[in-house]
Amino acid sequence: MEMEQVKTKKFSDPKGLEGVTKSPSERCAKVICLGNEKGGSGKSTTAMHIIVALLKIGKRVSVIDLDTRQKSLTRYIENRREWKSRHDAGLEIPDLRPFELSDLDRRSEAALDEKRRFETLLDELRYTCDFIVIDSPGADTNLSRLGHAAADVIITPLNDSFVDLDLIARIDPDTFEILGPSLYSEMIWDSRKRRALADRVSIDWVLMRNRLSSLDAKNKRRVNDVLDKLAPRTGFRMAPGFSERVIYRELFPMGLTLLDISDPDNKMQMTMSHVAARQELRDLMLTLNLPGLELAAAAF
Ligand SMILES: Nc1ncnc2c1ncn2[C@@H]1O[C@H](COP(=O)(O)OP(=O)(O)OP(=O)(O)O)[C@@H](O)[C@H]1O
Ligand SMILES: [Mg+2]
Repeated sequence: MEMEQVKTKKFSDPKGLEGVTKSPSERCAKVICLGNEKGGSGKSTTAMHIIVALLKIGKRVSVIDLDTRQKSLTRYIENRREWKSRHDAGLEIPDLRPFELSDLDRRSEAALDEKRRFETLLDELRYTCDFIVIDSPGADTNLSRLGHAAADVIITPLNDSFVDLDLIARIDPDTFEILGPSLYSEMIWDSRKRRALADRVSIDWVLMRNRLSSLDAKNKRRVNDVLDKLAPRTGFRMAPGFSERVIYRELFPMGLTLLDISDPDNKMQMTMSHVAARQELRDLMLTLNLPGLELAAAAF
């Protein structure tokens, strides 16, 4: 009985989140970080789809948008709130936590200030939700590094081109042989090393191809071949990607995702392309091997 009371003890609740009760074994929310130093690869779009997929199966999801300049994910969530209130739609809304750059002048002090605030926020969220989804900017910044180093899973969407691949590895233009790791892989390697030393966590790095075209079969095959060779050497695993589809651009202003289209509240017509896109999202979610998702596959 005493043991039971200890297990369900309410943890300190600095933000007044009532009713949050987690047993010690449940305390650690999984941290998912979307990252790629290449801009426009689909980080924010993928982040939003993962967030809504998790919310739809009843998971508590907190979001930190570390792209403090563009704030695309923040906007996406704000659009969703707006759509919900305008159309009285039954949309799930994640717990979005604002995070701003430090206003301290000296770089080293600013970096330390950002680190402290980020860690405090994470410490709080680890007790109050099941998943923390972090979106990072398409550049190497202090905040991006903090997000990557805190992750249990890093998801890197990658456009299907050698320009994008160049940030992962240097490739010989004649033979397509791998010459060595590039900047972003080195940054992940560094995050992994620090994380393993600090708390023995092994970060799962998942690469997914995005905007796959049905037309450019030769390029697709070449990129695929290089990625297959690169995966064991660089330490990532591949997840099924998303095809190029106009729908992703259309959904942003409404704050909707592929998973919301079939709901009549949202006044959208489900097409075969949407069904196929949902299947791609479902495949991605299952490949991530996130805890508690095994039995929920049918819900996506
Ligand atoms: N599979 C896809 N098919 C078509 N368009 C897509 C797809 N994925 C993303 N897009 C579009 O590509 C653009 C860039 O996507 P997104 O903002 O998600 O990328 P990002 O990596 O977050 O960019 P940044 O580095 O600037 O933050 C957006 O207009 C988005 O709607
Ligand atoms: Mg973005």
